[in-house]
Amino acid sequence: MLAQTPPMGWNTWNTFASNINEQLIMESADAMVKNGYKDAGYEYIVIDDCWSLRQRDENGRLVADPEKFPHGMKHVADYVHSLGLKFGMYSCAGVRTCADFPGSFDHEYIDAQTFASWGVDFLKYDFCYFPSNANCKNRYLTMSMALRASGRDILFSACNWGVQEPWNWMRGIGVHMYRSTGDIVDTFKSQTDILESQIGNFNSNGPGCFNDLDMLTVGMFGKGNVGIEQCEWIKEEDKSIPTIEMYKHQFMFWCLCGSPLMMGGDIRNMSEEAHKLLTNKNLIAINQDEEARPITRIPGDNTCVSYLKMLSGGEFAIGSFNKASFEKHISILAEEIGIPANSGMKIEAYDCETGEHYGTFADIIRISVEKFGARILRCKLVK
Ligand code: GLA
Repeated sequence: MLAQTPPMGWNTWNTFASNINEQLIMESADAMVKNGYKDAGYEYIVIDDCWSLRQRDENGRLVADPEKFPHGMKHVADYVHSLGLKFGMYSCAGVRTCADFPGSFDHEYIDAQTFASWGVDFLKYDFCYFPSNANCKNRYLTMSMALRASGRDILFSACNWGVQEPWNWMRGIGVHMYRSTGDIVDTFKSQTDILESQIGNFNSNGPGCFNDLDMLTVGMFGKGNVGIEQCEWIKEEDKSIPTIEMYKHQFMFWCLCGSPLMMGGDIRNMSEEAHKLLTNKNLIAINQDEEARPITRIPGDNTCVSYLKMLSGGEFAIGSFNKASFEKHISILAEEIGIPANSGMKIEAYDCETGEHYGTFADIIRISVEKFGARILRCKLVK
């Protein structure tokens, strides 16, 4: 089964945009293995927009740009597969992609065939230049069927930015993950706007299909296509380079809510602290929990907001996310998460990031969270 748990990988767009080629993809695939990302669970190497020629060939097929990919896409796919990784590509439900390359509208079956013949395992499917009189749900369904007809298991990653409430229908048409917001940029404001906009929209998360909060910006530190150095349109007041605490806030939320984890930084050259965060096995284990349950909000503090995620094996996680510019000390009433005093139970909590014992609580769970940061506790009930 595809996407039993949230898909994990790396995508070219956030850092490289149109600056992509065979060498970058192969080096990044190498880095995925060499730098421990594969061991941590990351699997897909995904080429986003800007990989093709501006026109189809005489048979109506998409053509990889021979300057960027001189040996063709099958060659790249074979290399990625030789490392035990999976290979992803990009197209669009509209007539052109967002960067004005040919889209798959009315070419769904021929394009799915082309991707299958190259050995593609994952298709990100965008929404630019979608004809105004066309039916969005029907066109995503058409590509979903075309992928099924291709004879290859291809994970379907839809990206329609939340148009027509995709959380209500993407699972039903066979999609494995769906973007539900506009594009992320590498600022604290962007990441918190995205996560807050989706709080009510995780209920259809579960094995087989996940709400996708967009590619991670963790470790970009202002550089690259969606970094503040290149994104001139970002408002001045939002233009500060995120700190590692802010990236923890981002990564931990993506982990807790069960978003796919698609890295967007340059995995060949991550800072040590970003690498450590992205490969944190305890945090990833929360994201990859086999029951894949949606999060639920815990009543309490509004600047440092907490959520509950039920886990397999009788455990659960509490994640607290601090937007304040100072450390917060919050208290969660145990009865708010179904553990009243007369239950006679205590909560034994482990700090997910460090793996260390955090405390044993009854009645009140006391959590401190650094400024702009986050903490996830993995908990079990004891007598
Ligand atoms: C859209 C998507 C992005 C990226 C670009 C490529 O904006 O939302 O994630 O794929 O197109 O042009």
